[in-house]
Amino acid sequence: MPDTLDPHVRFGSNSGQPVTRRDGLAKVTGTATFAADNTPDNMLYAVFVPAAIARGRVTGLDTEAAAAHPGVTHVLTPQNRPPLQGDPSDKPTMFSFRFEALQDDSVRYAGQPIALVVAETLEAANEGARLLNPKYERLTPRTDIDDAEPYAFEAAGFGLPANTVHGNPEAGHASAAQAIDVTYETAPQYHNAMETHAVVAKWEGDHLTLDMPSQAISMSCAGFAYYFGIPAENVTVRSPYLGGGFGSKAIPTGPYVLAILAARMTGRPVKMMLTRQQMFGPVGHRGQTRQRLRLGADDTGRLTVIDHEGIAATSTFDDFVEPAANASQGIYAAGALRSTHRAVKLDIGTPGPMRAPGEASGSAVLECALDELAEKLGLDPLELRLKNYAETEPGTGKPYSSKALRECYAQGAERFGWNSRPRAPGQMRDEDGLLVGWGMGTAFFPCPMFMAEANATLRADSTAVVETSAVDMGQGAWTALAQIAADSLGLPLDKVDFQAGRSGLPDGGVAGGSGHTATAGGALHAAGGDVIRQLGEIAAADPDSPLYGAGNAGFVARDGRLYVAGDESRSEAYTDILARSGGAEIAGNGSASRAPETAEQHAMNAHGAVFAEVKIDPDLCQMRVTRLVGAFAAGRIINPRLAESQLFGGMIWGISFALHEEARHDHKRGHIVNADLAGYHVPVNADVSGLDVITVHEEDPYVNALGIKGVGEIGITGTVGAIGNAIWHATGKRVRRFPIRIEDLL
Ligand code: MOS
Repeated sequence: MPDTLDPHVRFGSNSGQPVTRRDGLAKVTGTATFAADNTPDNMLYAVFVPAAIARGRVTGLDTEAAAAHPGVTHVLTPQNRPPLQGDPSDKPTMFSFRFEALQDDSVRYAGQPIALVVAETLEAANEGARLLNPKYERLTPRTDIDDAEPYAFEAAGFGLPANTVHGNPEAGHASAAQAIDVTYETAPQYHNAMETHAVVAKWEGDHLTLDMPSQAISMSCAGFAYYFGIPAENVTVRSPYLGGGFGSKAIPTGPYVLAILAARMTGRPVKMMLTRQQMFGPVGHRGQTRQRLRLGADDTGRLTVIDHEGIAATSTFDDFVEPAANASQGIYAAGALRSTHRAVKLDIGTPGPMRAPGEASGSAVLECALDELAEKLGLDPLELRLKNYAETEPGTGKPYSSKALRECYAQGAERFGWNSRPRAPGQMRDEDGLLVGWGMGTAFFPCPMFMAEANATLRADSTAVVETSAVDMGQGAWTALAQIAADSLGLPLDKVDFQAGRSGLPDGGVAGGSGHTATAGGALHAAGGDVIRQLGEIAAADPDSPLYGAGNAGFVARDGRLYVAGDESRSEAYTDILARSGGAEIAGNGSASRAPETAEQHAMNAHGAVFAEVKIDPDLCQMRVTRLVGAFAAGRIINPRLAESQLFGGMIWGISFALHEEARHDHKRGHIVNADLAGYHVPVNADVSGLDVITVHEEDPYVNALGIKGVGEIGITGTVGAIGNAIWHATGKRVRRFPIRIEDLL
């Protein structure tokens, strides 16, 4: 493994080990303190009132009745809400929403906060909220994707490109011997992390302290600083544990701002925790899509064109669009590629990034469409994918930094037994007479890197403290990052005190984009390397050290000793080196980001192949995913146990996407009828059996100094299509709408 950051530092033995979670015991014994577990003295409770209509105006609120309720201290409405310094319609950081924070009396989606009640107890706040008894002027809501005209755009929220063309799509269509033209739909999905959004806000002068789950601590500080007109260093965010995030906890949103405003107004700490129902609206979701895919191929199965058009729902007041069609760029070698997006403005909360935003919805459809084409061509679905295997990135022609997708196909197919799959649908039954179907899909996810910084300090007793404001949202970052840090310092894991999860530490970047381990890990690796470099300089200059004069050879740091690279008979313990140099600590720091030139030169993706088996009751059309095999190549795996868990989690979300998850609007009234976990289905254990993950060996010298590609999101991408294709294979029915329901098969 080339070690481009610091050639003197080699990897130790912590990385690659299936270490259990450092936070596991605290979580299972209930001692982990989540945001809402904080209850400072003199604290008040805030509850927001969600709009019961989707479009119109609030014409009346019985604030007197609410304020008169015992225990209620304040009622915030657009009439009395103190001003914010930063406009919630602005976008102060690249990752920002425009949000509703009682600016006016308009209602733009069901569930929008229209008032905030603050009280001495949660019960009083809830009762006060009930007594407000809102009156509305209703307008006809538009919540169906057909309720508004799609409009074209160039760049939407987060700078997403709307249109990308490589080659000549019209020529690709014209030269196709076989073609398909299919339209699929994906349902709106809502992040349903176990921990709903919560905040405990406390002002001391113009210093704001927030206990809240955050996937991006520094960015959160910057965002809140903007809205409240204070310097970012005056915002303290403490986010030691998150009960899941999935993208919804990366960005300041309206409910948080209201709770903080209430704390300022009342001069007391304020706690607010969203109910499950309140999660369906003001804190983001995966937007609904309708996607048309036109594929052409020559007689041998070579793709002449992939033409992917997406229509995606967004809100009336912001512009984030699920970039689904972009998923067709960069995966298969086709003569021409075109991805276009249009948006539809609806009376819904603004969508946002949700685990594999764009890739999940887009690849679901792309993989099913390819299956439809394979059927038409009389090819095995895997054979079609291999025929169109991209050796360089289609369109740009860039080489991949690494791409072990062929091995993923081979190992996954072998483990699954794909070779014995009959080509035609409806051929297999199990011993109970259930229909059996097999399908597959390609998984991929890009490898973004953000910016991160870290400090490391080696103490005289050969222990160390490392610091970065990284975030463990449940994915295991605390553990994997500590493994990287310990290796960079050449120390056993238990000698390293890993400090993260709060502001005031070096910026650990964003836990998102599957890039956190690479980015925060890169910074930790660099910081540890800086310490070891300094230690080596001290030893090499010290005539009493066995390492004297060995500086040019470089050192290997391992188990608290420095070894001369290439001559391990010469070594010395850190404690001895430090003792002779006066016992001082050595402090280092480091940062990580990707040089633009590196990204220019290579295409960088993690890849995988997912194989699915479904069983379907031929009479009742009940569906079960009975087996999923996913083989993934994602560069260096820091912790196989945690990486496997992440991949399992992604694949389970794939089951959820394919068969369960859907927020359903009552289009007459505009609200979501299943805004709770009784009606909004996610897979439970009984829905998930036979998960099998293979991590395919892959070394990547370009993607970043550690060779890490990330595993947080890729698991969804191949899985949805694989399941859709397996359902076709079991039944012969092609359902072009996710989630696939029993009634679709009847
Ligand atoms: Mo994620 S949607 O990158 O938190």
